[in-house]
Amino acid sequence: MADEKKIPTHLAIILDGNGRWAKKRNLPRLMGHRAGIKNLENMVRLVKREGIRYFSVYAFSTENWNRPKLEVAGLMSFFRFYIRRKIKEIKSEGARMRFCGRKDRLPDDILELMNWAEDYTKDEKIMDFILCVNYGGRAEILDAVNKLIAENPDRKTPVTEEELRSCLYLPDVPDPDLIIRTSGELRLSNFWLWESAYSEYYFTDVHWPDFDEAELMRALENYAGRERRYGGLKS
Ligand code: IPE
Ligand code: IPE
Ligand code: MG
Repeated sequence: MADEKKIPTHLAIILDGNGRWAKKRNLPRLMGHRAGIKNLENMVRLVKREGIRYFSVYAFSTENWNRPKLEVAGLMSFFRFYIRRKIKEIKSEGARMRFCGRKDRLPDDILELMNWAEDYTKDEKIMDFILCVNYGGRAEILDAVNKLIAENPDRKTPVTEEELRSCLYLPDVPDPDLIIRTSGELRLSNFWLWESAYSEYYFTDVHWPDFDEAELMRALENYAGRERRYGGLKS
């Protein structure tokens, strides 16, 4: 069909630049994180409107524990606030909320909230909204390998790609088609390491709190013009 626009099945965003957004305005970094969380509410709605089936966001990495204690505590409070206050809205959009990352180190009450939110939205089918918190791509691959070993310690046959894939955190979620990173850094910072093998990338200098509808449409427009070959030849 002539006008049919190619949209990603799985869109992933690395939410970067909250700190720089705040600095530009002479505000504390936490105000940047607050603005970032606020922007997420809007983005879930827009992404759903565009018909994207899986939407994942990188909100806190396994390396982000290295930040000052106060900043980490502030971020945890925002996650708490976000889940409590926004889960109804997320559900009413028809979105299933999922969390992705290691469960260690996170405060118990946040883990409980996460479980509750996943359960509360488990029957929603329009979109999966995946919040990656305490996520690291290396940790995910290591956890998958260790799971395989634990399941079959005496195994002598080689592990297949499918088996390893099936032990990642969200085996039912397709690999990201498009990964957007805001705020100008040209790196993955340990996001979706295994899953990004054939992802398309889009980088913008705009800080995450300023990434709006127009920016999203620009990124999707750009993606629609890409040709994906997966190592093969032009179709
Ligand atoms: C992204 O914003 C949010 C997290 C990584 C938690 P940053 O806090 O990394 O913002 P910059 O990169 O310092 O501007
Ligand atoms: C990547 O951003 C992680 C998240 C957005 C959650 P960082 O700001 O932590 O990454 P680096 O340190 O610039 O690579
Ligand atoms: Mg950053």
